[in-house]
Amino acid sequence: MKGKKYGVGFIGFGGIAQSCHLPGWKKLNDVEVLAVADPFDIARKKAQEEFGIPMVFDDYKKLLEVDEIDIVDICAHNTFHFPATVESLKAGKHVICEKPLAVSVKEVEGMIKEAKKNNRKLMAAQHQRFRKESVSTKRMIDDGVFGEIYYAIAYALRRRGVPARPTFIKKELSGGGPMFDIGVHILDLTYWFMGCPKVHSVKGVTYTKLAKRKDIKGLWGEWDRESYDVEDFASGFIRFTDGRSISLSCSFLANMEKLEDFSTTLFGSEAGLRWPDGKLTTEKKGVLQDVEIRFDTLPDVAPHHEEIRVFLECVKKDKEVPVKPEESLEVIKMLEGIYRSAETGQEMLF
Ligand SMILES: NC(=O)c1ccc[n+]([C@@H]2O[C@H](COP(=O)([O-])OP(=O)(O)OC[C@H]3O[C@@H](n4cnc5c(N)ncnc54)[C@H](O)[C@@H]3O)[C@@H](O)[C@H]2O)c1
Repeated sequence: MKGKKYGVGFIGFGGIAQSCHLPGWKKLNDVEVLAVADPFDIARKKAQEEFGIPMVFDDYKKLLEVDEIDIVDICAHNTFHFPATVESLKAGKHVICEKPLAVSVKEVEGMIKEAKKNNRKLMAAQHQRFRKESVSTKRMIDDGVFGEIYYAIAYALRRRGVPARPTFIKKELSGGGPMFDIGVHILDLTYWFMGCPKVHSVKGVTYTKLAKRKDIKGLWGEWDRESYDVEDFASGFIRFTDGRSISLSCSFLANMEKLEDFSTTLFGSEAGLRWPDGKLTTEKKGVLQDVEIRFDTLPDVAPHHEEIRVFLECVKKDKEVPVKPEESLEVIKMLEGIYRSAETGQEMLF
């Protein structure tokens, strides 16, 4: 529709909404951010007074009654993604929802069903896919530079990086620890690089060895040791139906040399790459070659803004979203599988 402005409403208006999503929406000419729903007084006050958002609600269901809102951006804690998404879709809104899309396979299945029933777009905000390093790596993969990528080692490891807020360390809010918070990013990316195969089986372990200890100091602020009830380290091995596989490890706290390792190493039949900062490794005419990949010379993109721009394009042109909810379903299957396997000691078969 010519001249139409798309109305956006936020459910949850904390850190990520204010710092990354709102500036993304504000960049777009044909968008108006109309409302915020958040039970936290300070978040609502900030929305109105600092960001000039006209409507604020303490109950998200009131936001869903606003006809002018076409798109709901869900930036509340992980365990709230499911009810907020399902209700938004039922109210006829398109939904972009922060990662992880939900905290169980059952929930994601319910979300997909509702999106289909109401013919509305649904996308997880996996912004890592929109980084310049990711887009160009994917292009090289699709051009066959790596041959068949048969194995990957994905790391989302922090040495002393507990996000010191209940949103991330209380299971009732987060659904899980570093695996849901940062593992989901590197796993989604690696899985996408590998062409989104079907999961066959998952084996995993989780540990909470450091987070409850008072002698362990965080670099991201102090957290409540008492209420911390998620893992601080998790690792999993995922096999796909075509025989390819991923090894994934994630931590908020770990005794390791670097302060952070957010990377995925791709092992291909023609070449390998440690993303995002590594060299392309290959052999040509009997000679080993290490080729430096200059991602730094590509034009900068703000990945959170890019995912929002692309999502709006899909809404406007009725196109399929680039992070398909069925792909997010496989990702949550892998993550839930690691938790289940850690609990039972069994390999989970799908
Ligand atoms: N993509 C990324 O890089 C990234 C980074 C940080 C967080 N996240 C994700 O974003 C989400 C929020 O994280 P955050 O760091 O902004 O957390 P936050 O704690 O700063 O903000 C969450 C907000 O949700 C609000 N909320 C709680 N219950 C609500 C309800 N019933 N209705 C509406 N709002 C409610 C809280 O009051 C709070 O203001 C999480 O899912 C997290 O995984 C993504």
